Amino acid sequence: MTGRLSTDDGNSFRRMEFYQYQERLKRSAAEKNHEFACEQGIRHLINAGQITPDFVDSICAHADLIRKLSAKRETANQLRELLSHRRAMLYFTQPSTRTFLSFMAACQILGLTCNEVRDPRTSSEVKRESHMDGIRMFSSYFDIIIMRTPSPEFAESCAYLMNDLASLGKRWVPIVNAGSGSDEHPTQALLDVYTLKRTFQFTDRSGSPGRFVDLQKSNPALIQGLSGKTYTFCGDIGRGRTVRSLAIVLSQYENVRMVFVAPAWKSLQLDSMLRDRLQRANVDVHVVDSLDAELDHRPLLGQTDCLYMTRIQREYDSGDDSREIEKLDLSPFQLTAERANRLPRWAAIMHPFPRDSHVQEIPESVDTNPRAMYFRQARNGMWARAALLVHIFGIGAELESMAG
Ligand code: NCD
Repeated sequence: MTGRLSTDDGNSFRRMEFYQYQERLKRSAAEKNHEFACEQGIRHLINAGQITPDFVDSICAHADLIRKLSAKRETANQLRELLSHRRAMLYFTQPSTRTFLSFMAACQILGLTCNEVRDPRTSSEVKRESHMDGIRMFSSYFDIIIMRTPSPEFAESCAYLMNDLASLGKRWVPIVNAGSGSDEHPTQALLDVYTLKRTFQFTDRSGSPGRFVDLQKSNPALIQGLSGKTYTFCGDIGRGRTVRSLAIVLSQYENVRMVFVAPAWKSLQLDSMLRDRLQRANVDVHVVDSLDAELDHRPLLGQTDCLYMTRIQREYDSGDDSREIEKLDLSPFQLTAERANRLPRWAAIMHPFPRDSHVQEIPESVDTNPRAMYFRQARNGMWARAALLVHIFGIGAELESMAG
């Protein structure tokens, strides 16, 4: 435990620090999720396996309510009273725009005071304070820690630290994973399914079901909701934490087909662990090498209900990645305006953002396509995250009472 402590990458999270949690980190998802739960539901949100369809329904209902109450000054002011006695720490030592800002906006909607650490060089980490001591300090001053770090195991280890403190009768606070290395991004999955649920109601702007009735005339198999759909994920499948977390949540719905479209380089492709997990959940999994591929002898795009585009995340390049990825032709993974028009007219085009302005996996010409949901998706992050805070602080009934 000597030597220079570099704070700018995952390696700085020396495994030694999590040594005491090794046994817990190795357990099955089900055992872990039990430890992250409490009587009211979720105590710490660490991974997407905790997000069940019932939980999604409750978050979506509350997100809709918060959205509605925020539109009027009087009720927006009442919302700000709900958590005005609480403080949040946003500990984001990996780059972030949307997740950081939408969490901050969500806190503001509910009246929580926010503070942030974004650059570990300004914290005592440079004085060789351990990451765990840092987190325990935050828990002394704040009531929730929302964190994004390059380490896949850090948020989870913090949840164990908090639970151990709780069992000793000491102060603890909830931990929310806002992105753990290339591993998981459960709150992104939450806003993604919120967006998909709204989209797959197929209602028009006024909320009337006329559009669904109309669509069903020419497509009798079409149903409302997340079940019975084809979800196509394209781009950096192997290192995409948003892909992994969303696929895990969607795998809990009935009759789901997932298609993974990735370039021919191993670190970008679907890994066997995720594939096995999805197949165990009865997902019909397919892997293809182009957006122009066919599935069951028909064009993939024409059968896709949701196309989830992602960026090639070069910041995770290691070993031969840089050299091999440079050589790839990425055009089969680019959603041109022409390809976008081959999707069914009800399909949703999603992207967690940021999109790569050089590679242009979604060029700006697609932004005016009525299927493009990605800007709405980003805004939905604010409502879904506010609903998550309502859940964690156990004030759902208070929120509902505001609706009269
Ligand atoms: C993603 C992330 O950071 O994992 N963005 C996000 O949180 N909305 C995806 C990415 O960086 O490509």
